[in-house]
Amino acid sequence: MKIKNICCIGAGYVGGPTMAVIAQKCPEINVTVVDINEKRIVAWNDEDVENIPIYEPGLSDIVKEARGRNLFFSTDVDAAIDKADMIFISVNTPTKTYGIGKGMAADLKFIELCARQIARVSKNDKIVVEKSTLPVRTAEALKNILDNTGNGVNFQILSNPEFLAEGTAVQDLQNPDRILIGGDIDTAEGLDAVQALVDVYAHWVPEENILTTNVWSSELSKLSANAFLAQRISSINAMSELCEKTGADVDEVAKAVGMDSRIGPKFLKASVGFGGSCFQKDILNLVYISKSFGLTEVADYWEQVIIMNDHQKRRFASNMVKTLYNTVSGKKIAILGWAFKKDTNDTRESAAIYVTDYLLNEQADVVVYDPKVKAEQIYVDLEYLGTHSSEEIRNRVKVVNTAEEACKDAHAVSILTEWDEFKNLDWKAIYENMLKPAFLFDGRRLLDRKTKEEIGFEFYSIGGY
Ligand code: UDX
Ligand code: UDX
Repeated sequence: MKIKNICCIGAGYVGGPTMAVIAQKCPEINVTVVDINEKRIVAWNDEDVENIPIYEPGLSDIVKEARGRNLFFSTDVDAAIDKADMIFISVNTPTKTYGIGKGMAADLKFIELCARQIARVSKNDKIVVEKSTLPVRTAEALKNILDNTGNGVNFQILSNPEFLAEGTAVQDLQNPDRILIGGDIDTAEGLDAVQALVDVYAHWVPEENILTTNVWSSELSKLSANAFLAQRISSINAMSELCEKTGADVDEVAKAVGMDSRIGPKFLKASVGFGGSCFQKDILNLVYISKSFGLTEVADYWEQVIIMNDHQKRRFASNMVKTLYNTVSGKKIAILGWAFKKDTNDTRESAAIYVTDYLLNEQADVVVYDPKVKAEQIYVDLEYLGTHSSEEIRNRVKVVNTAEEACKDAHAVSILTEWDEFKNLDWKAIYENMLKPAFLFDGRRLLDRKTKEEIGFEFYSIGGY
């Protein structure tokens, strides 16, 4: 089977870049990305490609190349489903905020809505691809809905989890370590569907890097990969606290540990804590699934990764307060960086949100600068936590356009995102314009020992030195 028309439901951080790259690499396939959020679609169609709603290095060039040729963005979900041979589901799956599994399980209501819509609209056989990260065995539920509410057409369900990281999404899509495709490999129809998706990726990915498995292995592999990655960060962050107490330097420890080829050097950077839309959500999901099978030890083991991460954010903030003579009430504190990591405008679960919330509890006046995040997003993130009223947040938190402005007359500055531009600031000049003694809290170990010693800051770096 040759795929001619692809539809992707969800024009977010995953759906948008993934479909842009598929369209770029497969010029003979028409790719339509649909979303119920009209504003988002309007932005994807903005004449000026620099205004597309997601910032990813290299993405606007690809959109410029493919948009209007074989890449389309639309709100007409029914029409796109009807036309497609293959439908990717790329809608968000947040942690449930209500009912059974509240705070742990993935909320699948959007997935179910998509399945019902696909079933209602489809008049010919289709391949449905789970792109969103889902709890294991969701494909089974999807299949039930499709088969029982559809018009008698056949659906094949594939799992094709995304491993792209934000900030390097385009690079990760163009040169993936592997592509994982799970399907019903025990039947001829299932194998055909798997092959159809393999053929799409084979336009640019070497076949030996395309793994095919059964559906459940694929779904579980995605949760496992994110849990393993997050576990490495929590492991090094646990060591960072010990380093601070003992005088060891966590980067030196990480280097020594990572040079063991069995361990490897990546994902060992101590930080104020991991953020992003995936790690916490996927681990909570894994914990929930384990508990639901009665696997208490397995659940507790993985939950510890989250407990450590929450501890890291809290102890960083409380350390700021302690160092500033146990009070930040009415003090001006500059926050540099709001995104959960550099090179993205995404702020989901960013450590900056939690650190700022803690500082607001202590009545600090916070001034934020981030090169890519809009002021309104910062307010929405804080309001979403529900700890402080919208009025208090807007009174106490100011958002400015430069790092220098954020730090002027501040008592302390805290680096929470590792944006490259923060490395190259004129730190001496910033220091001169701050109140003395001026404190710098480096949650990303961005400034090295030399810079630290050359300036007059009272300096705290997560993980010691
Ligand atoms: C992703 C993945 O798909 C998810 O598996 C992962 O675990 C979190 O990140 P992402 O692309 O980052 O989702 O989410 P988001 O940027 O919120 O995009 C989802 C889009 O789907 C939104 O634009 C939303 O409007 C759209 N949507 C949601 C629909 O079009 N229909 C719906 O029914 C629900
Ligand atoms: C992650 C996975 O990497 C990706 O494969 C999956 O598909 C989605 O989830 P993402 O959340 O975009 O991607 O970013 P990632 O680079 O993994 O960083 C997550 C968080 O961990 C960030 O807050 C980052 O700053 C932090 N981190 C990462 C560290 O604190 N130390 C590290 O060594 C690496």
